[in-house]
Amino acid sequence: MKAAFIGLGIMGKRMAGNLLKNNVSLTVFNRSQEPVDELAGRGATAADSPAACVRNADVVFTMLSTPDVVDELAFGTEGFVSHMQSGALWIDCSTVDPAFTRLAAKKTKKGGIRFMDAPVAGSKAPAENGELVFLAGADKEDLDETKYLLEFMGKKIIHAGPVSMGTTLKMLVNSLLAQSMLAFAETVLLGEKAGLSRELLLNLLPNMPVTAPFTAPKAEKIRQNDYQVEFPLEWMHKDLHLVSKVAWENDAPQYMANLAKEIYAGAKAHGLGREDFSAIYKYLGEKINKPF
Ligand SMILES: NC(=O)c1ccc[n+]([C@@H]2O[C@H](COP(=O)([O-])OP(=O)(O)OC[C@H]3O[C@@H](n4cnc5c(N)ncnc54)[C@H](OP(=O)(O)O)[C@@H]3O)[C@@H](O)[C@H]2O)c1
Repeated sequence: MKAAFIGLGIMGKRMAGNLLKNNVSLTVFNRSQEPVDELAGRGATAADSPAACVRNADVVFTMLSTPDVVDELAFGTEGFVSHMQSGALWIDCSTVDPAFTRLAAKKTKKGGIRFMDAPVAGSKAPAENGELVFLAGADKEDLDETKYLLEFMGKKIIHAGPVSMGTTLKMLVNSLLAQSMLAFAETVLLGEKAGLSRELLLNLLPNMPVTAPFTAPKAEKIRQNDYQVEFPLEWMHKDLHLVSKVAWENDAPQYMANLAKEIYAGAKAHGLGREDFSAIYKYLGEKINKPF
């Protein structure tokens, strides 16, 4: 199969890199040129527009930031969908909301294009190592046909149900991730204020049965005071906004997720949007130690 990849940010560049490592014939596009050049140096064909990227592809991957950006590149002026081959498959790996996904599937179907949502769990290192978990919303035949490509980039492929169930599941995963990070940060800060050693807290708490395992590498970031980006805080805020939208659409109150959303909004307004989302510890720490 000939593949195309649009969106070569933190995640997309590494995912596309794993397709190349496995000798997939790949054309790539990105808004900024640097990752395109890097992947072209590793055997990809560089395209100078989304439309040119998809023209000969049997399968098109997107890994873009927000629903608005996916919408613009797919359906805007010169949107790539109208340049895809009839019967080709678009796999959107971006974290978007289920309503957007359903609409995208409907619009693509009109043009004779197949669609699958396949957002991922896992960050920069799993993307690099081909160890992502794909949460697919798809027709079984579409998933069966392209599973081998997803397996070049991931260690597990979960078929969550028909189109939009992948993004639905992703909403839940990131709601938990955001809230667990906040709970961890706030708890460590309380322990420090109450006189426990920071070192003890950062060593011990991530290994308790009550704590989410992903907090162990995040504790290391807190220890080093180094919030170099893996998952940008601005996208965690975006995801909580999308969770809130899903909650509204389903008439299901999400008290904790909405509170978490506003705390991440505060951190973003504070200039931490392009730091790792674990920088929420730094933000809360400043709030606790230097109250208004
Ligand atoms: N990082 C993670 O740990 C992680 C994990 C799971 C899921 N996700 C999700 O995966 C998606 C990508 O995340 P990421 O971490 O790779 O983000 P990122 O590094 O910020 O990359 C975003 C991508 O979108 C492109 N983009 C943004 N605005 C654009 C515009 N107006 N026009 C065209 N292209 C535009 C960027 O192009 P430029 O390079 O030119 O800016 C880049 O290719 C997001 O939906 C995120 O929520 C991220």
